[in-house]
Amino acid sequence: MGANVDISPVTIEQIPLTQDRRYEFRDVFGNDNSVELELGIGKGRFLIQQAQARPDVNFVGVEWAGRYYRLVAERAARRGLENLRVLRDDAAHFIRDTVGNDCIHGLHVYFPDPWPKARHIKRRLVQPWFAREAARVLIDGGVVKLATDHPDYALQMEEVFNSDADFEQIFRAIGDEAPEGVTNWEVKFRAEGRTIHKFEYRRKPRQSA
Ligand SMILES: C[S@@+](CC[C@H](N)C(=O)[O-])C[C@H]1O[C@@H](n2cnc3c(N)ncnc32)[C@H](O)[C@@H]1O
Repeated sequence: MGANVDISPVTIEQIPLTQDRRYEFRDVFGNDNSVELELGIGKGRFLIQQAQARPDVNFVGVEWAGRYYRLVAERAARRGLENLRVLRDDAAHFIRDTVGNDCIHGLHVYFPDPWPKARHIKRRLVQPWFAREAARVLIDGGVVKLATDHPDYALQMEEVFNSDADFEQIFRAIGDEAPEGVTNWEVKFRAEGRTIHKFEYRRKPRQSA
């Protein structure tokens, strides 16, 4: 069904590790609107809903799984969304090596893979290095929003961002307190009766030199 959809207007190419280059989002979108990133978009429900609801904001969604990347790109292309781009990349490589300083208004990380086995925990995305990168790419006052259904990962998310001097927690909700979101996995997890943990952190203003 999607075979005839041209996804080129809504996709951007990965910048390989071999290239020392970062995205210029002004050139990508052809305007100076603020930019928000979602890492691990899955089937893209949140990203597409946001891009439709907020046409004055540019959204970039990063997804490693080719199947999901293509699915979301086709949905975005069919809707003619000009303020959305999908990228197939590893979220860690993307944020660390290809996003510039002080240029992102919002960072969304919803239900990242929890890697529950002890020997795999180091693969989790939200770690101290990730908070450092988030602080680097976000503008002053920019916000990171996180959600998980995994209690141990929830502890880790809070520990990581509470320990980073550049962030202050502005929202915390667990279980029934957590407002309903619109990601595909949240819908699934809520239907299964799982406890949802949600956190938001604001990047503190940089000290002027
Ligand atoms: C549990 S799903 C959550 C998807 C979506 N955020 C949601 O809430 O519906 C995790 C997503 O992250 C993607 N993912 C896992 N590792 C990734 C990585 N290193 N870089 C980018 N995406 C990744 C998976 O393919 C999957 O789509």
